[in-house]
Amino acid sequence: MPIYAVWNNKGGVGKSYLTFQIAAEYARVHPEKKVLVVDLCPQANSSSMLLGGMQLGEANLNRIHLGQPRLTISGYIEDRIFSPYVNPRTGSRYALPIHDYNYPIPRNLFLVVGDEQLEIQASRVSAATAPGPQDAWRIVHTWISDLIQDVVSAWNGQDHTVFIDCNPSFSIYTELALSASDRLIVPFSADGSSKRAVRAVLALIYGVTRQPGQQQSEFYLNSQRFRMSSPTLYMYVGNRLTQYNQTSGAAFKSVVNEIGEEIFAVWQANPGLFCVHPAGAPVPTSKRPFKAMFQYEVNDANSASVVSGTLGVPISALVSGRRMVLGKEVMVNQSQLDKQVPNIRSLVAAIE
Ligand SMILES: Nc1ncnc2c1ncn2[C@@H]1O[C@H](COP(=O)(O)OP(=O)(O)OP(=O)(O)O)[C@@H](O)[C@H]1O
Ligand SMILES: [Mg+2]
Repeated sequence: MPIYAVWNNKGGVGKSYLTFQIAAEYARVHPEKKVLVVDLCPQANSSSMLLGGMQLGEANLNRIHLGQPRLTISGYIEDRIFSPYVNPRTGSRYALPIHDYNYPIPRNLFLVVGDEQLEIQASRVSAATAPGPQDAWRIVHTWISDLIQDVVSAWNGQDHTVFIDCNPSFSIYTELALSASDRLIVPFSADGSSKRAVRAVLALIYGVTRQPGQQQSEFYLNSQRFRMSSPTLYMYVGNRLTQYNQTSGAAFKSVVNEIGEEIFAVWQANPGLFCVHPAGAPVPTSKRPFKAMFQYEVNDANSASVVSGTLGVPISALVSGRRMVLGKEVMVNQSQLDKQVPNIRSLVAAIE
């Protein structure tokens, strides 16, 4: 079953927010499947939202971080630093049932909790790629696949889908996430630097450099050397689009269209990097079907988005009305929900 990495090396584009919303909605509409979120970002933002948001979620995070054993991604990474080249098969203990911590999250969603310790472990993970067996780099880059495999084995092969929230930096833990995933969801924001980021992602993962002769990433070179597959491009999500008024709405639209042109140019030059979906769908032959398959949009729902993230209630489970947020009463309007909920639903409907 598919493993989706949510990544863009541009920061703050909504990777964690969308991981939270997409995974929760996907779990809601697929009660027959198990959904696993792996938080491979030391900021642990998606974990915090899934575990209940700014108060409950942070308290849950602290409790889990202080637990013995430390049932977080760092606990697992520690197992692997101890046994880098022989799989200790400890992964399944790290997938926590999130409904037990935060009831609006469906029962079929499990989380490997993010942990700031990842930052401190990174140098030891990198160190493990150099010595040892000849293919040490390859083995270390299967650690997260091993983790997922352990969890899935404990589920006795039940249908499942995995989402991995990534850190923006192209650090060792992001490399591990990308090696473990087979499809990529790339959120972007409506600004000029997102256009640049489209090319940066291509260069880092697939070695498609901006200028000929440009230096290629170690990740790309080693993935080639060890014949490891890289995730295919599954969707680009223009996120946090605002429709305040016609002028700003039109400005956002034109920036998104410009980035859409960039993505379409990438497709024309490298169609093999993309994952045509759903399975069996015809390969797009022009811009319109290409956009329908690969480009999605999620609006900013203003205070509804803030309430959703702060309380850890997925936006599609949020009802309009007054909510208490950090001791203050906040009004969630149906019109705000209507801005974003349909976007999340159609995006999730496109995820196999
Ligand atoms: N569609 C949206 N509507 C409203 N707010 C949003 C939306 N998407 C993201 N946000 C908010 O924007 C901010 C940045 O989002 P987020 O933390 O998910 O980005 P990120 O890409 O994960 O960042 P980083 O690169 O630091 O990991 C957060 O406060 C988040 O709640
Ligand atoms: Mg994030």
